[in-house]
Amino acid sequence: MSSEPHKNVFLLPQTNQLLGLYTIIRDRDTKRPDFIFYSDRIIRLLVEEGLNHLPVTPRTVETATNQIFRGVSFLGKICGVSIVRAGESMEQGLRECCRSVRIGKILIQRDEETALPKLFYEKLPDDIADRYVFLLDPMLATGGSAMMATDVLIKRGVKPERIFFLNLICSPEGIENYHSKFPNVKIVTGAIDACLDENKYLAPGLGDFGDRYYCI
Ligand code: URA
Repeated sequence: MSSEPHKNVFLLPQTNQLLGLYTIIRDRDTKRPDFIFYSDRIIRLLVEEGLNHLPVTPRTVETATNQIFRGVSFLGKICGVSIVRAGESMEQGLRECCRSVRIGKILIQRDEETALPKLFYEKLPDDIADRYVFLLDPMLATGGSAMMATDVLIKRGVKPERIFFLNLICSPEGIENYHSKFPNVKIVTGAIDACLDENKYLAPGLGDFGDRYYCI
């Protein structure tokens, strides 16, 4: 796992297996069932990588062969927070790794009058300030929604270094914008694309993630 070239950006190892998964979900001809299936596989990898960064304490157990095994166990509580709607696609992957994990939601939409992102709704666990938070949103484009969501978490008392922002694809400018405000939040991603296009979509990207996962 490398954090180069950006500090606090953890890019999944670019194996052929991962590249194959991205090739399927980026293909415009991939149908929704396959888009969901292969996105879910990437999401599992992102969650597992996020979990790698949590603190552990030594734990010794006795094995079924009556031997001693010196391992570790996780310290600290976690929760997920999805940015509605696309971020909700990542909730199941988190649940599959962390049984009965608490999940909060934040809804941010474009204000039709100002064209700026506006917070419409937040519902978060009461004790979120005591938890490590996995912030879920599959695409980091300009970073506007993610920054607003992170502001909400910090206002609720979550320390930036306890936030892990999980996404499938980032843009370099999204990373830069986001980290100019929150340098201590760890971004866990599977791909860093070349740029944004004139419509602020990631390029090469995959189109609208929420539409492809939920609608098309
Ligand atoms: N959101 C998406 O779904 N796709 C993009 O390319 C950018 C933001």
